[in-house]
Amino acid sequence: MTVKIAFVGFGGVGQGLLRILQERKEKLQKEEGLDTQVVAVSDLMKGSVYDPEGLDPEELLRLASEKRPLDEYNGRSTTVKGLDSLETIRDTNADMIVEVTFTDVKTGQPAIDHCRAAFEKGKSVITTNKGPVAIAYQELQELADKNGAFWGFEGTVMSGTPALRLPQETLRGNTIREISGILNGTTNYMLTEMEKGLSYDGALTKAKEQGFAEADPTSDVEGYDARYKAVILANVIMGVPLKAEDVACTGITEITQEKLQEAISEGKRLRLTAKITRTESGVKAAVSPEKLAQDNPLAGVQGATNAILYDCDLAGPIFLTGAGAGLTETGFSLLIDLIHSERRKAAVRQT
Ligand code: HSE
Repeated sequence: MTVKIAFVGFGGVGQGLLRILQERKEKLQKEEGLDTQVVAVSDLMKGSVYDPEGLDPEELLRLASEKRPLDEYNGRSTTVKGLDSLETIRDTNADMIVEVTFTDVKTGQPAIDHCRAAFEKGKSVITTNKGPVAIAYQELQELADKNGAFWGFEGTVMSGTPALRLPQETLRGNTIREISGILNGTTNYMLTEMEKGLSYDGALTKAKEQGFAEADPTSDVEGYDARYKAVILANVIMGVPLKAEDVACTGITEITQEKLQEAISEGKRLRLTAKITRTESGVKAAVSPEKLAQDNPLAGVQGATNAILYDCDLAGPIFLTGAGAGLTETGFSLLIDLIHSERRKAAVRQT
């Protein structure tokens, strides 16, 4: 069966997914039975286009790369233009919404409203926006389940490195006692550069140039980005409804080269870690700079790379490391969700 896709938001990440779907069309059909058709695209800046019989992905990608409005899409008699994002979600024949809008992580909007609108119509959503998961995980997951919709958000933690799917699938049956991770690439990059002699400001400028920092890097350096990711892990993997305000958070703004060198002279490394721990009185989470002993696998993580350590009662410590940002990597996280959604549908059909 063909998945009819609507992109809500069509920036670099959405285009990254569409490019992957185009380039790997045959492989995905053959190996995953994944057959996709883009029927709608709606973007606040670029406008919108909808065709129930399908749009030409190459033309969509060409218009986006030339920074031209979607209004210039060369359509057929069935092509409709000018739908807003909610109309695109509710009133088109799309059954899978790729929600990649520019969303404020503090309010989760407009992504939360987009997820609600889709689930109320029984439509599935895949998103890389952290806000809806960090703020409204329980409500939205219940709504999706009630309406038989799928909700995927693998890219919200460590982009295409499967930090959520791994414990949700492969580590099942374990009790995860603790999750600790380097979940923000910008700050790890900055700390690594400062260890090599760069000043705090110099390292921040370099991180911005490399493109991993958030539009407002306050969220990175104050630890807020890592805190949202910790909240997502607590809710989704540990199953507790923790909120951002429950997570103590200290960033790296007070870290100096002296403090980094002091850690090195003690045979340790100073890293910004997020820790989610099961205790007798419940699950606790915190984000803070931490001196890590050399035998802690997180201590060796360099540059913008992310890493996560799951302390499992049966499997022992499991360590996963990889990219935490990037257009192709984050586009790939959406592909993981898409494939999983299709597998789930196939499993339901068989029962
Ligand atoms: N600003 C984030 C980081 C991007 O540096 O990790 C991915 O969430």
